[in-house]
Amino acid sequence: MVNKILSQLVNVEVVTPKIDDTLWFFKDILGLNEIGRKGRSVYLRGWEDWYTYSLKVTESDTAGVREITWRAYSEQDLMEAVKIINSYGLGLGWDDGEPDMGVGKGYKFVLPSGQIGKIVWDLKLWRASGNLRSGYKARPMKKLPQGMQAKDLSHIFIFAYNDSALAKSIELLKKLTFKVNEILKEGDHTIAYWMAVNGTAHDLAISLDPSGVPGRLNHVTFNVDYADDLLRAADAYSDYGLEIVGGPLRHGITDSHSLYVKEPGGNIIELLHGGYINTVPDWEPVVWDTKEDENRWLYYWGHVTEAFWNGSPIPPNKVLDEIKEIARQKLGAKI
Ligand SMILES: [Fe+2]
Repeated sequence: MVNKILSQLVNVEVVTPKIDDTLWFFKDILGLNEIGRKGRSVYLRGWEDWYTYSLKVTESDTAGVREITWRAYSEQDLMEAVKIINSYGLGLGWDDGEPDMGVGKGYKFVLPSGQIGKIVWDLKLWRASGNLRSGYKARPMKKLPQGMQAKDLSHIFIFAYNDSALAKSIELLKKLTFKVNEILKEGDHTIAYWMAVNGTAHDLAISLDPSGVPGRLNHVTFNVDYADDLLRAADAYSDYGLEIVGGPLRHGITDSHSLYVKEPGGNIIELLHGGYINTVPDWEPVVWDTKEDENRWLYYWGHVTEAFWNGSPIPPNKVLDEIKEIARQKLGAKI
């Protein structure tokens, strides 16, 4: 019997050294809706995100990811997740959440790859009121007539800083009931995994990091409603001086349409359309091999730029200090 512990990716906190420009990108270009501000953070959502917000943007001295939040299936499942995390010595303790932003208490932990995760049960469903209320009854809010009308948070792609960090992360994530759908190898060497808890091709992906530094972000992705939105976005990006680093293209792995851009703060943001749903319970991960399949795993058609292969614009020495400290203490990382 498989008892799923996690239901979905809920939100991601990214940091930026250029908060105003980054917000211009997410609001005016991607079309996300601002829900609130607190301190140095701004809370944003797509029109079909189920909870209050899916993206928290925080001003910092660098770019990258600060925290990734998943929801458990129940309070009991949250406690089960805590047990699993603590059996690996990766727990960082409880936090009270942000009830004013619809998020209750959660348990924080560090992934063996160095990113900070949090698991919550207590979350408030978001429903617009007033003139943002949609006539489509399941829709949390009207589809705003702004920017690319990004729909909802799709996935996060993170780096693992060496083979052991990658293997240990996968072991933990499988225990937390992520289902690995596809794997990338270089001959006998496994270098990346695409997995999900929500039945899509991936709500999380993780690959080896050429820089060898814990806690780094590869990219964050929002879904769009129509494949045409990717073309509209490519037009807008080029018109407004944003650097497209990949696409429009069709991924071999996940079989989805994609476009990557570097937002003004330096984070790589992907827009995605399509991809499969796979809830096959006895699925064996599909294996791609860079030696046989070349780059078709990434772009079956279309292409990416050289900047994409650098993985992330974040220089290795610019990962958040708080994450470096946790990586030293909890993972024994020599940084
Ligand atoms: Fe992606």
